[in-house]
Amino acid sequence: MKIKGKVAVVTGGAKRIGRAIALALAERGCHVAITYLSSHREAAATVAAIREKKVRGWAVPVDQREGDQVRRAVREIHDHFGRIDVLINSASSFYPTPLEKVTEAQWTDLIETNLAGPWRFAQAVAPLLKRQRSGKIVNIVDVAAFSPWPSYLPYCAAKGGLVTLTKGLAKALAPSVQVNAIAPGPILFPPDVSAGERKRAIEKTLLKRCGSPEDIVQAVLFLLEGSDFITGVILPVDGGRLLA
Ligand SMILES: NC(=O)c1ccc[n+]([C@@H]2O[C@H](COP(=O)([O-])OP(=O)(O)OC[C@H]3O[C@@H](n4cnc5c(N)ncnc54)[C@H](OP(=O)(O)O)[C@@H]3O)[C@@H](O)[C@H]2O)c1
Repeated sequence: MKIKGKVAVVTGGAKRIGRAIALALAERGCHVAITYLSSHREAAATVAAIREKKVRGWAVPVDQREGDQVRRAVREIHDHFGRIDVLINSASSFYPTPLEKVTEAQWTDLIETNLAGPWRFAQAVAPLLKRQRSGKIVNIVDVAAFSPWPSYLPYCAAKGGLVTLTKGLAKALAPSVQVNAIAPGPILFPPDVSAGERKRAIEKTLLKRCGSPEDIVQAVLFLLEGSDFITGVILPVDGGRLLA
């Protein structure tokens, strides 16, 4: 697929990895709608940066824990741009949930944001992509889906579910739509992660360093533009974390 002139939706695109993906797609001539939850200012700045690349950009506030909001957002994006070709599910919620302390509300929040949200976006764009007989979905999962961290089990279980969902969607949407996932290792730590935790996470990679958002961007671009013969695959971008 050539993404120039196409339309992509990047969830959680205001900041961090989602923003890097949104700007890279725009750089290649793709029109981009980003979704955000609370980062209104950052979303506006990302849209301005997208538009500087001479493509159309738009930001839509969405709480993806709410099905109605996701369906409304996809309808509005489709009306605004006239088509949707690519969905990148990057939005995520991530915080520690030790087994003895995790609440029902936290479990629900983490499953809703990290699993049900991407499912809702995929379900809403699927009929559009199928009708066009072309489209791509890339879900951003986590190596923790394969090697779960005991203090983050709801997050890991949600990402594990998203791995299964990726494979199932690849079957459900074949042969015209390709659905894949990228499993990052340590790329950008949340600001509240201690220096000790960062050091330990880096030590657990084979390459003994963090990746960068650009590593994720390159994997996304490969899955979108590099080959149309890949579907149902989970691509680790993890510095060897899964082997170490
Ligand atoms: N960073 C890493 O090193 C790393 C490692 C492994 C996997 N990953 C995965 O890679 C993806 C991107 O990582 P990241 O660190 O850039 O993500 P992030 O900063 O944790 O989250 C991205 C965005 O998700 C949005 N979000 C949170 N809850 C939401 C909700 N209920 N509805 C809609 N949007 C919501 C937030 O938007 P607002 O800011 O607008 O509130 C946030 O900016 C995620 O799927 C993450 O799990 C990242």
